[in-house]
Amino acid sequence: MTNFSTSMRTHLCGHVGSDDIGATVTVCGWVARRREHGEHLAFVDLRDNSGVVQCVVDGDVDVRSEYVLQITGTVRQRPEGTTNENLATGAVEIGDCSVTVLRRADPPPFPVDARADEVDETIRLRHRYIDLRRERMQRNLRLRAAVNAALRSSMVSQGFVEVETPMLVPSTPEGAREFLVPARREPGSFYALPQSPQLFKQLLMVGGVDRYFQIARCLRDEDLRADRQYEFMQLDLEMSFVNQDDVLEAVGSAVLDAAEAANGERPPEIERITWREAMDRYGSDKPDLRFGMELVELTDLFAATGFGAFAGAEAIKGISVAGAAADIGRNQLDRLTDRAKQLGAKGLVWMKFTDDGIESPVAKFLSEDELSGIRGRLDARSGDLCLLVADEWMTTCEVLGTLRTDLGRPPVHQGPYRYVWVVEFPLFVGVDGQSGRPKPGHHPFTMPHPDDVDLIETDPLNVRSIAYDLVLNGWELGSGSIRIHEPELQRRVFAALGIDDTEAARRFGFFLKPFDYGAPPHGGFAVGLDRLVAILAGEDNIREVIAYPKTQSGADPMTDAPLAIAPDVLEDLGLRVAPPS
Ligand code: AMO
Ligand code: AMP
Repeated sequence: MTNFSTSMRTHLCGHVGSDDIGATVTVCGWVARRREHGEHLAFVDLRDNSGVVQCVVDGDVDVRSEYVLQITGTVRQRPEGTTNENLATGAVEIGDCSVTVLRRADPPPFPVDARADEVDETIRLRHRYIDLRRERMQRNLRLRAAVNAALRSSMVSQGFVEVETPMLVPSTPEGAREFLVPARREPGSFYALPQSPQLFKQLLMVGGVDRYFQIARCLRDEDLRADRQYEFMQLDLEMSFVNQDDVLEAVGSAVLDAAEAANGERPPEIERITWREAMDRYGSDKPDLRFGMELVELTDLFAATGFGAFAGAEAIKGISVAGAAADIGRNQLDRLTDRAKQLGAKGLVWMKFTDDGIESPVAKFLSEDELSGIRGRLDARSGDLCLLVADEWMTTCEVLGTLRTDLGRPPVHQGPYRYVWVVEFPLFVGVDGQSGRPKPGHHPFTMPHPDDVDLIETDPLNVRSIAYDLVLNGWELGSGSIRIHEPELQRRVFAALGIDDTEAARRFGFFLKPFDYGAPPHGGFAVGLDRLVAILAGEDNIREVIAYPKTQSGADPMTDAPLAIAPDVLEDLGLRVAPPS
């Protein structure tokens, strides 16, 4: 164990133990608690990042909560019956203490313990430096550091070279909204902060780096949520002369190394599922495999149905919610139907299977064969509730997939951890309303699946790509792809997107021209580190594993950022703020 002794202390508070009985020790830290103990003595629980130790001090010394103290005394066994089992140092105390007050402290704005979990988050963030003293936050920061260290060490041992890429980059029109930085020397010109090192890492491959990684800060101006911040970290990597298997192998072993470092247990090898199967069975491209309630295919049962809502539908599927029939009332069923409609369905069929038969507003429209077919396929028992949607395949899958997670999903951090690769994402998703062109699924440099290349012109929406995601407990942990390195194929994909040579040169020229000097076949990946750490730490919001996160509205209550800038500073940058319109 590292010896944390310094010129001011001999031990960390949490390290004082039975081995030290009889020894004189000096500890430093914050007063977690003070309790009076008879006439002239007080118990002071002193806290540092390792834990708490009980010190018996002179009751006349002015010592209050969160004062910073240096205490020297003798370690002794606690008297019979006063041992605290909940505390690592609970068998001992420091007696005969001499106390130096290193810094007096104002009373903290909230209790520096688990009670702060109930405090309004803005107050915690305004005084984050106090929040960070708490065991939960100390544990999360340490776990984060351990994950970082394990990832870095795994990358290095796999021969990856750590390279830093710039933070001031050109604005590129792809992806999320960017943060811009005014260029003082060229008024009206701006740098952008990078959404990811994507372009630079691919050019590192052209530069012969072969295997690159970086624990990279990324910035995106998007709506914040439990799994999204403006600033976040990626384990970003890129490899040359590889196929998909090579990339998944490298990323997978780094992520499993990190999970093992965090929780002491190595998860099993990561399974794979195609995007189409994930949609078919889970109605999601980030399937949560921790629970069942899979989507069941029913389309063929209704080939000749007389029920108007189902007749001719491209896909009819259902899910079964075990035992939900009794608890769910008419109001809730109406709300589920509204939810399905909000999600784009034309309606929702519900069926309660009971001892007396089937209760459903549409039972009368369905034949005996259809009803028993539904019951059989969904394996519905008495007491189960089944929900059915008929629509285009994608809508049917997505609506039922969302209802599945609404009704069945445990909190994200709850074990067991279920990692899964989702492979063969579609190259294009949907069609742009204005241009009528397909839109890129990942980004326009993603390699089409070799078997589907001939469909780029004729049936673009059915072209699969060599793009893959890593999913953990229903969260997208990371994404990557094999990239196009060959100009003719790139031209065909651009053409499908409605981008001609001139426009491609204008928008992506600085990126694509270098490929003409010899781009190797390459591919890569980026793992969202904040998300990985949050789940491994048992948190369901990434803010809990970031030292200084922004609030949901993008503010930092501690520094009050963002702030207005003085007019003369703006002037210097060639900027003027337009009055609110
Ligand atoms: P992508 O945009 O999918 O891919 O991002 C990769 C991973 O980064 C995490 N992530 C975020 N985490 C927190 N807050 C955010 N706002 C946020 N946005 C993304 C997610 C996501 O899966 N350059 C490509 C990767 C590649 O192709 O190599 C990229 O950035 O966990
Ligand atoms: P309607 O015929 O539109 O009155 O719908 C009869 C029932 O079927 C209602 O409960 C609707 O919610 C449901 N429904 C209608 N269209 C669909 C659909 N495409 N998929 C599932 N249920 C539907």
